[in-house]
Amino acid sequence: MLRLALFSPLLLLLGCTSDPPTEPADVAALSELPLIPLPVEITDEDAVHYYRGYEGDVLPSPNPVIGDAQRYLSDRWPELVLPLQFEIAQDLEGEAYRLEFRGEEIELAAGTREGMLNAAKTLGQVLHFSGGEDEEVFISSGTISDEPRFAYRGFMLDVARHFFGVDEVKQVIDRIAPYKINHLHLHLSDDQGWRIEIKSWPKLTEIGGKSEVDGTPGGFYTQEEYSEIVAYAQQRGIVIVPEIDMPGHTNAALSAYPILNADGVARDPYTGTRVGFSTLDTDQDSVYTFIDDVVREIGALSPGPYFHLGGDESDATDHEDYVNFVNRAQQIIKDNGKTPIGWDEVATSELAEGTVVQLWAHADYALRARDAGNPVIMSPAKRMYLDMQYDSTSRIGLHWASYIEVDSAYQWDPAAMAEGLTDGDILGVESPLWSETVRTMEDIDYLVFPRLLAHAELGWTPQGKRDYADFLRRLAAQQEWLKDQDIATYDTRVLAESADTTTTMK
Ligand code: ACM
Repeated sequence: MLRLALFSPLLLLLGCTSDPPTEPADVAALSELPLIPLPVEITDEDAVHYYRGYEGDVLPSPNPVIGDAQRYLSDRWPELVLPLQFEIAQDLEGEAYRLEFRGEEIELAAGTREGMLNAAKTLGQVLHFSGGEDEEVFISSGTISDEPRFAYRGFMLDVARHFFGVDEVKQVIDRIAPYKINHLHLHLSDDQGWRIEIKSWPKLTEIGGKSEVDGTPGGFYTQEEYSEIVAYAQQRGIVIVPEIDMPGHTNAALSAYPILNADGVARDPYTGTRVGFSTLDTDQDSVYTFIDDVVREIGALSPGPYFHLGGDESDATDHEDYVNFVNRAQQIIKDNGKTPIGWDEVATSELAEGTVVQLWAHADYALRARDAGNPVIMSPAKRMYLDMQYDSTSRIGLHWASYIEVDSAYQWDPAAMAEGLTDGDILGVESPLWSETVRTMEDIDYLVFPRLLAHAELGWTPQGKRDYADFLRRLAAQQEWLKDQDIATYDTRVLAESADTTTTMK
């Protein structure tokens, strides 16, 4: 067992007194470790350091920049005690961090809580791949200096088509955090289910929460449960992005409240997988009161800046009504102190200042957003929809956009998706997992891993530093680690082939 621990200076001094054992011959250089996402800069030095574990109770620092990073490490390795030095560095901004392995202490430096968490996440990988599951660990000397390409690196879980409870969402958070995914977008409502308690409109969950695809029982989060998810994610460096999809994809709400329908008649619950047939009555003031209540209640539970209004596939809404609706919905979200995000069709309305447009199907809408000065999140279905099958033999998933093997998930540049788009126009990337065919945690693992690691690197590492062959080498090692943690990652064709090649070449 690796005994990592969060040191106190006294412990550290005592720890330095014992003689190190003989250095093993095969300590990998820092730059050879299979880190994902690949850091911006790794400087190797010609020395190896020995760190030895000590047991002891050390409280996390009350300093907000340091405490969550310490908790992140001690949660994952409760018994590990290593001499770690946390430095708040004024020269490091935002998510940037530096890790130094060159003395008797491992130094983690960052200027913010998010940066320090990133340092802890990279350290976790360094320890693991340095054979850190022992009481002692040898680590090659050197420095890792790192910062992300894009500020927003997201994963989306559709909890509407099939519901996933609090414990499952926490497991998802634990799985995505090590790869520096920093936003978890929850698709909280759709035709098949409404998944979050709204106290002023209780039938949304009493009626709309009961159904899901397959006709199996659905479910929903109470506001207390939702807050628990938000806090759990926040401690691990992840912002929850709530989405209430509208004016289409609303059958669950329309089944709960007849007043939201143009004809005043409640819709039947829906458990199929068609899209594009439902719409809120965009002419009615009570619909906007409803939206204001929903945004206000969810907004009050959300420390993060965003509220996602959906806006996709509203085929049952007249286009002029759609434009008016999206304009009003954006204003309601802004009036509640949040920044709107919408799927790319919202770019056909008048975008409010700051509204983020999430490209999934229409590159030209992303360009419209850019021309209007609005930021873009890249989630092109052909590359980033994790519910797309790997190939025709995949046991679940869909393939209406494409089959997506690891090479296709990795080998593209978000800035080249739409002519003339640059990094400065792009807020980030997000990997959506729609759950029509996804029913269990094992199903989530199968579709998400290992492709999310390709997307994590896409969002973090500069385009010029990304190399597919090198990524595959690192991914093969990460894949083994995922399996050791009982994460049901899929053995993709490309990884199997690269493993075969390695064997033949030996
Ligand atoms: C979408 O896939 N309808 C955003």
